[in-house]
Amino acid sequence: MPVIDFSNLPDSMPVVEIVENGKPDVLVPGRRTLPRPGYGEVLIRVAAAGVNRPDIMQRMGLYPPPDGASDLPGLEVAGEIAGIGPGVTSFKLSDQVCALVAGGGYAAYCLAHAEHCLPVPNGFTMVEAAALPECFFTVWTNVFDRGGLRAGESILVHGGSSGIGTTAIQLAAHFGARVFATAGTDEKCTACERLGAEKAINYRDEDFVQIVRVLTGDRGVNLILDMVGGNYVNRNIEALSQNGRMVLIAFLEGSKVEVDMMPVLRKWLTITGSTLRPRSVAEKQEIAESLQQRVWPLLESGKIRPEIAKTFPLAEARKAHELMESSHHIGKIILTSETSG
Ligand SMILES: NC(=O)c1ccc[n+]([C@@H]2O[C@H](COP(=O)([O-])OP(=O)(O)OC[C@H]3O[C@@H](n4cnc5c(N)ncnc54)[C@H](OP(=O)(O)O)[C@@H]3O)[C@@H](O)[C@H]2O)c1
Repeated sequence: MPVIDFSNLPDSMPVVEIVENGKPDVLVPGRRTLPRPGYGEVLIRVAAAGVNRPDIMQRMGLYPPPDGASDLPGLEVAGEIAGIGPGVTSFKLSDQVCALVAGGGYAAYCLAHAEHCLPVPNGFTMVEAAALPECFFTVWTNVFDRGGLRAGESILVHGGSSGIGTTAIQLAAHFGARVFATAGTDEKCTACERLGAEKAINYRDEDFVQIVRVLTGDRGVNLILDMVGGNYVNRNIEALSQNGRMVLIAFLEGSKVEVDMMPVLRKWLTITGSTLRPRSVAEKQEIAESLQQRVWPLLESGKIRPEIAKTFPLAEARKAHELMESSHHIGKIILTSETSG
């Protein structure tokens, strides 16, 4: 039986919805009926929710929510458990969690699969906890699972100052890789180096292919995490070592490119990519378990910390999107819920 006493909960909740596809001003505060947890789900009273680039794509109509997901934006939340659906034994009411969700984070309450909830790390604020799920799940599965990064190898992280980039730099450096990054300003490069990059390259002034080849004794890097695409694809191939791997997670500069595949053959390269949101409950659960085992202790001991750029009240989600689209931020942008009523 669901352990949920609705008499203590409001019938409706504040949300921010996408009223039509377009610019940030289509993000409008509204009210929705409180969702009720189904089998295996929990209801989270949201204290903070992360903003991610895919939210912008969704707002523009370029990244529709998968079947069954909330149409509200928001892929990660932190808060306390306010309701428990049938079949859930791993959490109790008032537990503090952060969760990866397939949508619905821009709200005072949000449903999550219990298997995709992780405890708020000791010593973390809700804002810091909300900054974890989307980036840590994405980086873990793309850099370590698909990309197979090992200690002693080297990685080039494009978009080093992004939420994803700041996570990838810290995790890769912690697990013993040499880390290089690219970013668009000197201030962003300094931040990347503070987080563990041996060298951050301001791509507006310097050629990352040339620098990476010099720094690796002309061998090239073992792995590249790329969110840019476009003309980076051929340059990445040039910057990769023998047996190198390129993992594509987005195409900010376009996905259609003409590629000379000969170096793929000659250098035995692997080109791959993946998306997180449409994965099955079981696949995401597997990532959550790896994170809890391998990464949560690093967060709790303070070895790794999410980089927070700025917070906004939920109702000002529009301003949060404007900041993200300006690309002036370093790290994560977070929305806070002042009231859950
Ligand atoms: N495949 C997946 O499963 C998955 C999951 C989550 C996120 N992602 C992708 O990962 C990327 C990072 O996400 P995030 O939430 O961390 O975003 P973010 O913080 O906004 O980072 C994007 C960064 O990309 C850099 N960039 C380079 N070329 C750009 C261009 N043409 N337009 C805009 N920015 C450009 C910007 O830094 P500079 O100004 O320094 O260039 C910007 O800081 C996004 O593209 C997102 O869609 C993929």
